[in-house]
Amino acid sequence: MTIYIPLPGNEAMAAELAALTNSELGALELRRFPDEETYVRIASDVAGKAVELVCTLARPDPQLPGLLFAAYTARELGATSVGLIAPYLAYMRQDKRFSDGESVSSQHFARLLAGAFDRVVTVDPHLHRIHDLGEVFSINTKVVHAAPALADWIKAHVENPLIVGPDIESEQWVADVAQRAGAPHLVLDKVRLGDRDVEVIAPGLEKWQGLQPVLVDDIASSGRTMIEAAHHFEKAGFAKPVCVVVHPLFADDAYEALEAVSSRIVSTNTIPHVSVGISITSLLVS
Ligand code: R5P
Repeated sequence: MTIYIPLPGNEAMAAELAALTNSELGALELRRFPDEETYVRIASDVAGKAVELVCTLARPDPQLPGLLFAAYTARELGATSVGLIAPYLAYMRQDKRFSDGESVSSQHFARLLAGAFDRVVTVDPHLHRIHDLGEVFSINTKVVHAAPALADWIKAHVENPLIVGPDIESEQWVADVAQRAGAPHLVLDKVRLGDRDVEVIAPGLEKWQGLQPVLVDDIASSGRTMIEAAHHFEKAGFAKPVCVVVHPLFADDAYEALEAVSSRIVSTNTIPHVSVGISITSLLVS
C-alpha cells in the first residue's frame, strides 16, 4: 500500500497523485522553532506502507532539512520504503567544476537525497553533460518527460508554430516537442556571461517569417535566456513569442520582465506559479 505525503506547498499535487492511484493521502506537520530550526512530525500511520514524500525542490535550501528528517522519520516509523517525488529537482545544473575549487553540487545534492530515500521520481532534470540521473544518484531514479504535454498544448493553442530552443543544450527536448507538434524547430546559440547575463546568437531568422515563434526551455530562472531570445525575434519583425517552460522558477522580477517581451507564458505544474497551464501530474504515475 502506498501513501503520498506532501511537504508544505505540495498538497495539491500529492492529493492528485493519491486520487490518480487510489492511494492514501497522508499528512505531516512541519514548522520552524523560534531559532528557525525545523520541526517535523509525520501525522499519518506509515507502518508497513510505501511512503512517497511529495516535494518539488524549487528554492531547496530552506526545505532540505525538513525533507530529510521526514524521510528518516518515515523509515523509523516502519515504512517499507521511502520515495521522493520531486517534480523539479534542484542543483542539477552545477554538474561540472567550471572554475577551480567549485563544488559539483549536482553530485553532492544527489548524495544527500540518496542517504534518505530509496528512489526519486522527477520531471526533465537538467541533464546536459551527464545523460542519466543514475550517473549522479546511487538509488533508483525515474525521469518523466514533459515533451508530450508541451506538444499537446502547443498543438491546441498556437497556429503555425516555430519551436525555438534558446541554446544548443535545449536541442534534445525542442526536437522532440517539435516532432510531436508537427512543427519545424530551430535552435539558437547562447553564451552565459553571468548568473543574470546571457548573450543569444540567432542568425538567419528571416527564413522563418510568417511563423509564430514558440520559445521552449526546461528552466526559466532569471528569465534572461528567454528574454534575449525574444529580443531577436522582435528585431526580426516576428510576432511576440509564446514562451513554454517546464520548470517556472522565475527569480525576482523575471516573470514580469519576460511578460513584457512575450505574447503568452505557459508552464507546467512542476512548480506552483501563476503561469502554470500544463499538467504533468498523471505522467508522474504512468
Ligand atoms: C540552461 O542551460 C537552461 O536550459 C536554461 O536555459 C537556463 O537555466 C535558464 O536560465 P535563465 O532563465 O536564468 O536564463
